Amino acid sequence: MDIEPFALERWLADYEHEAEVNLGDSGVRPLEADRFDTDPGTLGYVVPTNGDPDLRATVADRYDREADEVLFTCGTQEANLLTVLATLDSDSHAVCVTPTYQSLHSLPQAVADVTRVGLAAPDWALDPDAVADAIEPNTDLVVLNNPNNPTGRIHPQETVEAVYDLAAAADAYLLSDEVYRPLAAPEERVPPVASMGPHGISTCGLSKGWGLPGLRFGWLAGPEEVVSAAWGWKDYTTVSPSAFGQHVARQAIGREDELLAENRDHVRRNRDRLGEFVAEYGLDWHLPKGATAFLTVPEEFESGEAFARALVEEGVVVAPGETFGRPGYVRIGFGAGRSTLEDGLARMAELIGARRES
Ligand SMILES: Cc1ncc(COP(=O)(O)O)c(C=O)c1O
Repeated sequence: MDIEPFALERWLADYEHEAEVNLGDSGVRPLEADRFDTDPGTLGYVVPTNGDPDLRATVADRYDREADEVLFTCGTQEANLLTVLATLDSDSHAVCVTPTYQSLHSLPQAVADVTRVGLAAPDWALDPDAVADAIEPNTDLVVLNNPNNPTGRIHPQETVEAVYDLAAAADAYLLSDEVYRPLAAPEERVPPVASMGPHGISTCGLSKGWGLPGLRFGWLAGPEEVVSAAWGWKDYTTVSPSAFGQHVARQAIGREDELLAENRDHVRRNRDRLGEFVAEYGLDWHLPKGATAFLTVPEEFESGEAFARALVEEGVVVAPGETFGRPGYVRIGFGAGRSTLEDGLARMAELIGARRES
């Protein structure tokens, strides 16, 4: 098994720590721990190690599934890894929709053959015919991210259902990473793939919508044979969810109406502010629905990386489009705290203005 370096994580590892203004993060400014009870009592493993059955039943309900069709994981990242390990082997083929969070094509590629289906600018729409063309006789998994990171695009219900039908007809699973779904307005949300039928697997977690990435709490939901195989792999990765994570997750899920509304309001107001900047500087984007925006690079800069490197000199970190295989773009995380966003935009404005004057 050979895994590609995670381009975005390596970029952030070089710059994020020292950054004065971090707009490279894809999440929502984290909530303070003191909003929760943080004492789980004893610090044993979570038993059963797939997660508390009552909390799993609560989560499973959203997918019209049973508690045993949900596995708690250390973040959505582990949920995606375990899904890949549970569904693919060296004889398999996967179809991965890109650009996306790199795990969603590099993990399948570490295990199996992969065909990528590209989303095209400017609206990053997914063409189900392109997925149909990419499917091979040994395709076992189709991978989607909805809403999509980096573009913020939501693939509509009819498109996701068409892709689900294609996966089902090929006797493959459709994995949809839905970690940004809780940030979409309820009327804009597409039903989770795990609720669409026996070939659907949804992954999610509390990092983005709830603003709790440090909890490292996520899950996968889907058919019992996949969830049970994923649990078998989890025995070798993290054994159980963290006791702290599950303790706080229970409260955060219980208070989700309040917490999600607060975070949605925050990202919507920040997105509106970023929209003003995009218009003022003549940039282009697809109006994003998650917490990340994929902006075209100002014409004074030759590439996403050139713009991002110039911004690093100004103390601002963004993610160059190259880390998503799209050099003409930069990804801005607009879920940051408001003053961070304002500071970052002011520094960006100064940099672009200086180049335009010279
Ligand atoms: C699409 C997507 N999936 C998964 C993750 C990882 O999430 P978690 O912190 O829940 O592991 C990220 C983080 O940026 C992401 O953007």
